[in-house]
Amino acid sequence: MVELSRPGGGSNAEIARAKINLALHVRGRMADGYHRLETIFAFAEFGDRLEAQSSTDIELELRGPFAGDLDAGPDNLVRKAAELLRTHSGTLAGVKLILDKRVPVAAGLGGGSADAAAALRLLVRWWKLEVEAGALARIAADLGADVPACLDGRPTRGEGRGDALSPFPSEGLTGKPVLLVNPGVALTTSEVFARWDGIDRGPLGDWRAGRNDLTLPAIQCVPMIETVLDSLGRAEIARMSGSGASCFGLYATIADRDADAMDIGNARPGWWTAVSRLA
Ligand code: C5P
Repeated sequence: MVELSRPGGGSNAEIARAKINLALHVRGRMADGYHRLETIFAFAEFGDRLEAQSSTDIELELRGPFAGDLDAGPDNLVRKAAELLRTHSGTLAGVKLILDKRVPVAAGLGGGSADAAAALRLLVRWWKLEVEAGALARIAADLGADVPACLDGRPTRGEGRGDALSPFPSEGLTGKPVLLVNPGVALTTSEVFARWDGIDRGPLGDWRAGRNDLTLPAIQCVPMIETVLDSLGRAEIARMSGSGASCFGLYATIADRDADAMDIGNARPGWWTAVSRLA
């Protein structure tokens, strides 16, 4: 089976790697309505591709299999990232951004957050800016709770809203065969969080023994998620990512991963799958 993308996207492009929450513990509600999390972020090599071309204005063009599920208007996170970075840096430069949307939207795979982070990385280079890492992280956090983790695109531990980051060892993760599966139903993150039952089920220690506390709330919205998890039968670990409905399987071997992908492709032709490795 051919893996769908390689890391890096060329000098005028970036890959917005799909985000995976290896575990996601919800510990409480905060006064601002956000939830206090403990999570381990990891990333697939596979993701959307964002390319820059010359322009005097900021323009955005959407392409690819999921382009129709997104709006290229002012609320698009890629456009917002470009505007924020331009304001922060004081540059008058423009850019035409072409987003090849390969990862499903509202899927728990970081979509818009990963795209926004890719836009920041790409535009710092394209506009030849010197932006301090701390300033870039603050711009990222303004764009969304997951965007700071997506800036780096490597395994990271997240706390608070998910944006208080600390290093996480990538040994045993990088290169690990991964299968991403989405049953083709979009889920709104805020709706899934709103269904969380308020019970703190404890801190995140070893992520392998951890949980995704949004799984039950997400299954209330999309019962099919249980079937998705059952379909990852050869995985060492199968779990939902983020607020769902996408699930991932981590595999000991590529053969196991590809066998599950093949079975799912045959049994569920309407589901989206991607075979990749962890970055
Ligand atoms: O920050 P972002 O816009 O990605 O978050 C989307 C929604 O997810 C928020 O509006 C909020 O409802 C929910 N959320 C949350 N707690 C978090 C992260 C996100 O309640 N830690």
